[in-house]
Amino acid sequence: MCVTVRGGRVRTFNQDSYLLAIESSCDETSAAVLRGADVLSNIVSSQLEHSKWGGVVPELASRAHVQVINQVVAAALVEAGLTIEDIDGLAVTARPGLLGSLVVGSNFAKGLSLRYGLPLVAVDHVEGHVYSAFLEKAENTNAAIEFPFVALVVSGGHTSLFNVRGWGEYDVIGGTRDDAAGEAFDKSAKMLGLGYPGGIQIDTLAENGNPAAIAFPRAMMHDDSLDFSFSGLKTSVRTYIQKNFPDGVPGEHMPDVCASLRAAIVDVLVGKTFRAAQRYAVNSIVVAGGVSANSLLRESMYARAKKMGMRVVIPAPGYCTDNAAMIAVVGRRMLLAGQRSGLDFTVAANALRAVRPKGRRKKQGA
Ligand code: KG4
Ligand code: ZN
Repeated sequence: MCVTVRGGRVRTFNQDSYLLAIESSCDETSAAVLRGADVLSNIVSSQLEHSKWGGVVPELASRAHVQVINQVVAAALVEAGLTIEDIDGLAVTARPGLLGSLVVGSNFAKGLSLRYGLPLVAVDHVEGHVYSAFLEKAENTNAAIEFPFVALVVSGGHTSLFNVRGWGEYDVIGGTRDDAAGEAFDKSAKMLGLGYPGGIQIDTLAENGNPAAIAFPRAMMHDDSLDFSFSGLKTSVRTYIQKNFPDGVPGEHMPDVCASLRAAIVDVLVGKTFRAAQRYAVNSIVVAGGVSANSLLRESMYARAKKMGMRVVIPAPGYCTDNAAMIAVVGRRMLLAGQRSGLDFTVAANALRAVRPKGRRKKQGA
């Protein structure tokens, strides 16, 4: 239990306390307020300045966080009907992510901690995605998720499988050997002229296409490992475009290309996740991260889980992409467990637990 002395009054962080969380690891500035486990607000400000560069420009991202963080935090407090004086604890993303962006959120949180005497915890962003499942109920049972479960975290920067036994108790059991699934969507979207980030555009166009139109590869689908590889798919999309539509894919073919591409990515993600659940003998699956907003991935996960009598939890799309509510969920457990980060904690580009699996690596110069 965290005890804070403020204005001569002793405050404890307990089950019903108010928590303010801040997330700024990449190109979203977000702040959320919880009362106990309930989300009172979750404000997300997305940076649009990166689209014309075809990817996130770190220096621009840091500056954009600086510009809006004050307003985002203020908006989260207003929506919760609170002031900073009501808050009992703070949580902030400290890793993994862009260092300059992480520093903005972390230093803002440190400033609040210092000024208002609030306990602060530094949170791992990937853990935020894993435990974001606690913001939702399972689709097919309407029950809350329970340990143990297998989690697929699938975003622009990560494609990893975790065996989760409890709060803070989890192992990385699989990961991508090259591109993340979100990168496969985004890089393909760029080749198709759909802009950045393009996952959602591909998802939307795919709804009217034929997923069997083009046989894109399902890499490592049938080997025994729980690892992924998406760089071959990206090459395959490039080859397909160069061979068939060197001047650009015409509008009428776009839905078929998108549907085939989406199906290739989703097949592998679903196949490996259920293989992991069987291997680790768990009955519950969590899917999180930006790509879990994908409509086919969601439908396929729910359908397979129903068939196999398993439970699957996928947060609502607003909790799939980067947000501070998921950081608050992890931060709350840490504060309740008595953890506290000093004002000297630093940020890091890598996740707390290594996500890149051992195994086949590209040879030097290959
Ligand atoms: O978790 P997130 O917001 O940020 C990272 O931590 O990377 O994930 C962003 C990724 C991007 O690659 C974006 O294209 C992808 O999530 N994404 C989608 C969809 N919505 C977002 N990919 C496929 N289908 C979607 N509907
Ligand atoms: Zn993320």
